[in-house]
Amino acid sequence: VKAAAAGGYVPDMNRRNIMNLLLVGAAGLPAASMAGAFAYFFVPQGSGGGGAGLTAKDALGNDVTLAGWLKTHQPGDHSLTQGLKGDPTYLVVTNENKIEDYGINAVCTHLGCVVPWNVPEQKFKCPCHGSQYNAQGRVVRGPAPLSLALAHATVDENDLVVFTPWTETDFRTGLDPWWK
Ligand code: FES
Repeated sequence: VKAAAAGGYVPDMNRRNIMNLLLVGAAGLPAASMAGAFAYFFVPQGSGGGGAGLTAKDALGNDVTLAGWLKTHQPGDHSLTQGLKGDPTYLVVTNENKIEDYGINAVCTHLGCVVPWNVPEQKFKCPCHGSQYNAQGRVVRGPAPLSLALAHATVDENDLVVFTPWTETDFRTGLDPWWK
């Protein structure tokens, strides 16, 4: 009986894994799910763009507008957009239902995994080696040596969310930005 139970366990796990793969694959198609966002970010970017500023793009590659973003993202939300140099960059919705004036680069400062936002813990937690960052992207647990990079996030006259390079002091640490 034990052997049968053990034997049944493995196929069940396999089936579940296959289901997960199918779900992830399907989620990439319709909407701005995390899976869709990750799939999108794996596509190499053609160019970095000419100017210093870059319009944030959603998981489908569309320009992000403030009004559109706030329609689908609640206060406290941390969700990915495509930012400067094509880097996955979090927009943060404030309690006043605005977006923070900074975007948080999702590339882990340890070895470069994309760091997901963990809603229950209100932290970024890297799945690769366990680094953690607070809600502003400040590193709170290694092995990551540094906080997540910042970009300025502003809204232009057409309601587009625009990222520009952050070259000033990092307000979280009081230090010069390491990513300059
Ligand atoms: Fe994030 Fe190693 S890449 S902890």
